[in-house]
Amino acid sequence: MNADARELAAGFDIEKLTPEFYIDPYPTYRALREHEPLKRLPNGSYFLTRYDDLVSAYKSTRLFSSDKKREFAPKYGNSLLYEHHTTSLVFNDPPAHTRVRRLIMGALSPRAIAGMEPDLIALVDRLLDGLAVKGHVELIEDFASAIPVQVIGNLLDVPMEERGPLRDWSLAILGALEPVIGPEVFARGNEAVKDFLAYLEILVARRRAKPGNPERDVLTRLIQGEDNGERLTARELLHNCIFLLNAGHETTTNLIGNGLVALSRNPAEKRRLIENPALIKTAIEEILRFESSNQLGNRMTTEPVELGGIKLAAGTPVTLCIGAANRDPAQFADPETLDVARAPNRHLAFGTGAHQCAGMALARLEGAIAVSRFLARFPDYALSAPPVRGGRARFRGFLSVPCVVG
Ligand code: HEM
Repeated sequence: MNADARELAAGFDIEKLTPEFYIDPYPTYRALREHEPLKRLPNGSYFLTRYDDLVSAYKSTRLFSSDKKREFAPKYGNSLLYEHHTTSLVFNDPPAHTRVRRLIMGALSPRAIAGMEPDLIALVDRLLDGLAVKGHVELIEDFASAIPVQVIGNLLDVPMEERGPLRDWSLAILGALEPVIGPEVFARGNEAVKDFLAYLEILVARRRAKPGNPERDVLTRLIQGEDNGERLTARELLHNCIFLLNAGHETTTNLIGNGLVALSRNPAEKRRLIENPALIKTAIEEILRFESSNQLGNRMTTEPVELGGIKLAAGTPVTLCIGAANRDPAQFADPETLDVARAPNRHLAFGTGAHQCAGMALARLEGAIAVSRFLARFPDYALSAPPVRGGRARFRGFLSVPCVVG
């Protein structure tokens, strides 16, 4: 194969990413998949890009641990950021994970999610009215990011006037998960956990004093636990509320933003979707595949494992590159092309296995309502300046997307 791709794969280091990579990581992912699908990085970790290898790792919580205590101890020291990330559902293994997941899944029941649809439609339509008045808009701030903030705020019933800081806290805490962080990012993340905890303590105390309807109010449900007496501890409750708020924010903002930009860059697919609104479900899956908002996952081997012909020692950190697996030609026909009707589409944007995204039904609902109603209202929307990328490897999205709506 061509020497450039081989060179790109050989020189890849997650700790030394180039500006070109942040703009378009896919040529690098392709080169890695073709030449070094299990790439050993200078720090001793492995970077996996093949679909089948990711599925193998995701499916075995026994061999591939999600517990991050060992990895985060040197990164975060004895800090609130450490306490937060190591208490989050996503960074734990069974049996702790199984217990907390059951409680969270119980709270995010299909009934609770279906009940959110009318408010979601009203919210999206209100935002679209605002865009129509403005004409020149900023798609991320005025639309994409406004939706999940309110949806997750509704999920935990955070009073409207108290939602202001949620997004910044969330961005600061998730920003600290980037592969390499400086002291400022660390300090900002830590401060955000402190402020978030202080706020949630008040919110939880209020809800304990005056419980909501557990069928609709996720926080009440999480406080009360399950009928069999299972409950989250006070610390687990607070950190997993933060985690839920974070998990649903930037990822869903990016789904909506990435989708509207990808469609505007693929006008034939955009037209096809506008002419066939029933394609919205497959279109959202395709956006999730094509520009996955969460590009990287992490695991650590618990014992020696052979994967893709390579022997990994126990205790080897592995990065699962969702963005690369979702464009693996061994799994997807014509993977670099956006096809709003693609089926089947077994992408890994929500991961798979025991940790598969607990909020995926909600994310899909938000994506479908936001994108379909936006297209119906503004079929001729056009980007008015080059969109600005967020500059993150893990969470792929845009900071700003200037746009004119017709
Ligand atoms: C487009 C939007 C979203 C994407 C792309 C996404 C992606 C993911 C991925 C890849 C994982 C698996 C992590 C792993 O295995 O290491 C995950 C886990 C999780 N997500 Fe999402 N997510 C989205 C939206 C949401 C929303 C809206 C919520 C909640 C309201 C949510 C809650 C969770 C939770 C609780 C977990 C942890 C599950 C576990 O560890 O058992 N996510 N998400």
